[in-house]
Amino acid sequence: SVERTLMLVKPDAVKRNLEGKIIAHVQEKGFKLVALKKLRLTKQQAEKFYYVHKERPFFDELTDFMSSGPIVAMVWEGENAISKIREIMGATNPEEAEEGTLRKLYGTSIGENAVHGSDSKESAAYEILFFFSELEIVE
Ligand code: CMP
Repeated sequence: SVERTLMLVKPDAVKRNLEGKIIAHVQEKGFKLVALKKLRLTKQQAEKFYYVHKERPFFDELTDFMSSGPIVAMVWEGENAISKIREIMGATNPEEAEEGTLRKLYGTSIGENAVHGSDSKESAAYEILFFFSELEIVE
């Protein structure tokens, strides 16, 4: 079915001016960009966004990093967008990601892995609403 998913270009990739290449890559796979913004999260906002990971040992490092500089937030729409965009991104650890995936191309470590994408329908709903209002999403 047609789904929407949230994707983030993380601070490491924005710092390297990679957001344009990443957007073009996902568009070329056939997905439609329906919302887009550049912003910087506070530490507190990063903790809220990643609350499902709050008990993990890397939570403090993750939320420090995600609030360390500007990010680009996007909503993508398309057939099975949630799982398909996770395939396009590749494994969380860039060293384990397949050739041609965004994390293989642009990630440098498990933390600085260039992009984030929603991992389920439930997280997509939460994550899209976290960044965008209905008005900011183009039908
Ligand atoms: P992301 O898809 O944004 O979801 C949670 C993030 O936690 C994940 O990508 C990684 O960048 C990060 N992460 C996972 N494992 C580790 C780790 N061992 N050390 C630091 N960051 C991690």
